[in-house]
Amino acid sequence: MKKLEMLYEGKAKKVFKTEDEKKYIVEYKDDATAFNGLKKGTIGDKGVINNKMSALLFKLLEEKGVPTHFEELLNDREMLVKAVEILPLEVIVRNVAAGSLAKRLGLEEGVEMKTTVLEFCYKNDDLGDPMINDDHIEAIALATKEQVALIRSYAFQVNHLLKEFFIDKGLKLIDFKLEFGVYDGKVILADEISPDTCRLWDAETNKKMDKDRFRRDLGEVEETYQEVLSRLQK
Ligand code: C5P
Repeated sequence: MKKLEMLYEGKAKKVFKTEDEKKYIVEYKDDATAFNGLKKGTIGDKGVINNKMSALLFKLLEEKGVPTHFEELLNDREMLVKAVEILPLEVIVRNVAAGSLAKRLGLEEGVEMKTTVLEFCYKNDDLGDPMINDDHIEAIALATKEQVALIRSYAFQVNHLLKEFFIDKGLKLIDFKLEFGVYDGKVILADEISPDTCRLWDAETNKKMDKDRFRRDLGEVEETYQEVLSRLQK
């Protein structure tokens, strides 16, 4: 499949039209940003790792009944996906307190949540992706009530499946962010699932195995991304 016009360039990915109007090509970049673009850098081969890891996880989820945009891995940095219309929502699922939740609620990082927490943010760089609730989503028509219900149920299902898969590889799934899109009128999982979008801690040592190494200048960034992929491929 040939790449045509670039539709979108984000912080970590480019999206291209193809000869098939129902398919896009996603190209994963090595660029890394944090804190809404304030911190910028590159992580060597991140694009390759995130492409391969997302492909592997989308395949797993699809097999377990979660519809995703993934079609096929094309090469090291590119995948073919369904041409979804992305809903402007970041869907965050949390099992353990970390990052912005720990800060907001004054919790120590690593405190287990009694129940899984789901948050929605409005995907809008100018506003800094503010947190919103189901009522806001409906009130400003970001998604319908039915779509929100489906997104919630898929997000919890993804959490259940990924938690199980990761722990088997010696990784604790602390939290993660999903994005959904609409394709043929149906809500499906889109975007990526990678160390950029998940917090993963080593199950034995609690070592951070994700983008927090870049955000917080913890070192061994490339090596850790590689290590996560190689564990998942075993
Ligand atoms: O920063 P915060 O603690 O809210 O992030 C929660 C989870 O969502 C983390 O796994 C983070 O990597 C992910 N996230 C993301 N993209 C954003 C915001 C958060 O992938 N724009």
